[in-house]
Order: sequence, then C-alpha cells, then structure tokens
Amino acid sequence: MTEKFAVRAALSTTPAYVPGKPPQPVDGIESYKLSSNENHLPPLPGVPAAIAEAAQNPAHYADPAVTALTAKLSAHLDVPAERLLFSAGASEMLSALANITLEAGVEVVYPWPSFEMYPQIASLRGATHRRIGLTADFRHDLAVMADAITEDTRLVLLCSPNNPTGAAIRTPEFEEFMARVPRNIIVVLDEAYREFCTDAEAVDGLAALADHPNLVLVRTFSKAHGLAGLRVGYAIADPEIILELRKAVLPFSVTAPAQAAARESLARVSEVEVRAKQIALTRDELIAGLRAQGWDVPDSHGNYVWLPLHARSGDFEQACLAAGIAVRNLQDGVRISIGPDASMDRVLDIAAEFRSRFH
Ligand SMILES: Cc1ncc(COP(=O)(O)O)c(C=O)c1O
Repeated sequence: MTEKFAVRAALSTTPAYVPGKPPQPVDGIESYKLSSNENHLPPLPGVPAAIAEAAQNPAHYADPAVTALTAKLSAHLDVPAERLLFSAGASEMLSALANITLEAGVEVVYPWPSFEMYPQIASLRGATHRRIGLTADFRHDLAVMADAITEDTRLVLLCSPNNPTGAAIRTPEFEEFMARVPRNIIVVLDEAYREFCTDAEAVDGLAALADHPNLVLVRTFSKAHGLAGLRVGYAIADPEIILELRKAVLPFSVTAPAQAAARESLARVSEVEVRAKQIALTRDELIAGLRAQGWDVPDSHGNYVWLPLHARSGDFEQACLAAGIAVRNLQDGVRISIGPDASMDRVLDIAAEFRSRFH
C-alpha cells in the first residue's frame, strides 16, 4: 500500500514496463528506432485496406470470440479451435497466464536476461521469483531451471528464441527439461520470434504439444507479421488451460481492425515467411560484420542482435543516440533490432568507432 492510496502491497516492488526509447533527431541524417524489435518492412499489401475496411464503424464491439480469425488459424496450423485463444498481443496472454497461476506464496521460474515482462507479471501478482541466469553462451540454463522447481512452483517461462540474447532452445534439451517438470505445472514457451529462427535444431513447439499437455505456446502477430501496433497475440494449449485463460483475457481486447489485419496477414503467410527470412539474413550479416570487427556476438535467431557490453552498455547506447539510432540498453548488454540496410551500416560504423575508442 502506498501512503496515499489503498493499492496492493505487491505494487511497491513491481517495476513498470520500460518501452524502447525513440531515437533523438540528429541534424542532416535519418533516425532509426532499433529499440523495440519491430518489423521495419512496409505493411504487406492488402493489410492497410483490410484495416480501413474493418474500421468503418467503430461504434460496434469486435467479435469477442474472434471467430473468423480463429477458424483461419485453426486451419493454417491444423490445430482444433478449442486449443486456440487470441489476446491483445502476446503481452496480454502472458499477463493472463500469470493471472491463472500466480499469487503470493507461489513461485515462478524464468530465465534472465529475458523478456522484461516476465519479472513484471510475477511481481504484480506477489509471486516469488526464481530467476535463473543464462549459461555463459547466453542459452537457457535448463538444468538449473529444472533444479529450481519446487512444490510451490506454479509457472515456468521459457523464451525461444530468447529476447534479448537470441538463442533458440533445442529439442533434446527441451525434452530433457520437460521430463523433469511435474505434469501439472504450466510451462510457457514464448515463441514471439519463431519465424526468424534459422536453428535447424530448435524445438518445434507445436509438435511438442502432443507430448506435453502442460505446455502453452505463446505467439504474436507483432513481429514477423509486422502488426505490433494493432495488438494480436494468441496461445495454443490444452483446451482446459484455454478455458481458464478465457476467464483472464479481457473481453473485446482484440479490435475488429486487428482481427481483420491478422486474417489478411495469415492469408499471405508465405510472404510473411519470405520477409522473416530476409530479416534473418540481414541479422546474420550484421553479426558477421560485428564479428569481423572483433566483437564477441552470440548467434541470434530473433530479429535482433545482442552485444554483451556489460558496464559499457550505457556508453554504447549514447554513441548510437548521438548518431541517430535508438537501441535497447538492458544493463548486461545492448540489443539492436534489425532495421533497414542503411541503419545496419550505421550501426557497424558506430561499433567500429566504439571499439577503436575502448580497445
Ligand atoms: C519474448 C517476447 N514475448 C512477447 C512479447 C509481446 O509481444 P506483443 O505483446 O507485441 O505480442 C514480446 C515483445 O517484445 C517479446 O519480446
């Protein structure tokens, strides 16, 4: 409780989500926002028209059951509709998952560094954090995560590819981990960046569902589909978990324009996949360019690259800002989202200059 208002005690230790900063304008050059893992490509043809069409009469609520989009996704994934649930971005689904599992006195296990919402949703419910550091090569330390599970654990969060460090969880380590998790504990596999993944050994969440009824896949139209501003995410899970999640997502949270845009994007999913691979290629070129300068950069399977700069993260962020580029400073390192070619060239110039100053 604050001194002034009767709010829940858990809020006093809950951080507010810190979004990626916008770039500062710099005279004479274009600025780039590479701080939120957004898709920099123009909208898919057909999507703006679908949004405009669906926005004709904003006086009406959207279809609360998201019927047409659910049917389309069900057919696309070959997953029964009763296993699918939409939300306002994957963010709302993560929040709903915390709402159905967490409260004071129970524990949540998650990797770190990882998506910044994980500690936030845990703190908000007053749950105890079991935050497990990544391995030296920036992978989930699944053995230690399994060791951290106790009789009080109610939720496990996995992120593959991991935001911000980029590694994907591989099938054998995933299976070994799942074999150690009690079957009644919900394990979330956050696949927000799955379309950018080029690791042939990465776990296939959809295939894994068949063997693990306690597994929940969380996905989004924000990244590869480029619809972050419209807020469409979804979960794939056992129908019983979906029933509980239905109680926790807000009614009408996926607006009609958002549903229409996602339907249109799904109809063009092969184009989405081509674009995702194009972004993955640019990512690998950026990594190669940075390594050629001598940087120690881990492989990434998202639409971003991780520079483990530790104490120099702030200096690097400032160097980028001064050159018209906003990156994400996460203290342990800096995450650079993939952007247009010109922005990647500029990042390489900044990185080269930075190295010459500090090495
Ligand atoms: C790992 C991860 N999960 C989920 C999300 C949430 O995405 P959205 O709410 O836009 O669908 C993000 C967004 O950055 C993310 O990085």
